[in-house]
Amino acid sequence: MTRRGGRVTGIDPTPNQLASAKAFSAEHGLDIRWVQGFGENLPFPDASFDFAISEYGAALWADPERWVPEAARILRPGGQLVFYTNAAFSTTCLADGEDAKLETQLKRPYFDLYAVDWGVKDGPVEFHIPHGRWIEILTGAGFAIERLVEIQAPDNAESPFDWADPDWASRWPMEEAWVVRRSS
Ligand SMILES: C[S@@+](CC[C@H](N)C(=O)[O-])C[C@H]1O[C@@H](n2cnc3c(N)ncnc32)[C@H](O)[C@@H]1O
Repeated sequence: MTRRGGRVTGIDPTPNQLASAKAFSAEHGLDIRWVQGFGENLPFPDASFDFAISEYGAALWADPERWVPEAARILRPGGQLVFYTNAAFSTTCLADGEDAKLETQLKRPYFDLYAVDWGVKDGPVEFHIPHGRWIEILTGAGFAIERLVEIQAPDNAESPFDWADPDWASRWPMEEAWVVRRSS
């Protein structure tokens, strides 16, 4: 986006991630503003961005009831938000535990989805919510939904993750991209 003429700001709460991002943007000669902060509490003024994107960042690790209204706040009317995360359907097909893998049986109630800790003591919490809840939160924050792209893995797909079976992901939705626009 910087190369296409955009003025880009990146935000992450983790100093080491920011250090890597700074090193890569310097290596590629890209002028990007890096800011430390959380998706739930963005240190930016209202209506100050045209476009926002989250790829397994706030979209996975932050509470959607908090980060989605924040994204709406910092976007100008007509601004677009795109985010990419796991499909709720795939979360229902994963049992608790560090060794769990995608299965062809439902392993947890769909309607209980929210803050998922995978039953791992002191493990991370990921936010996975049903589609109906995404629609409520997005429209409630003032977004119009333009697309929900359910990603289907192609025949020759490979995965670096033990739990994420490409054959499974060629038959059921494992990941999805939401494309929404702030109503004017
Ligand atoms: C899987 S990485 C993906 C980041 C980015 N899309 C990339 O490809 O490098 C997840 C990132 O989300 C960040 N993160 C965790 N909690 C967050 C939050 N509440 N708000 C924003 N980012 C968060 C982590 O520090 C980490 O850098």
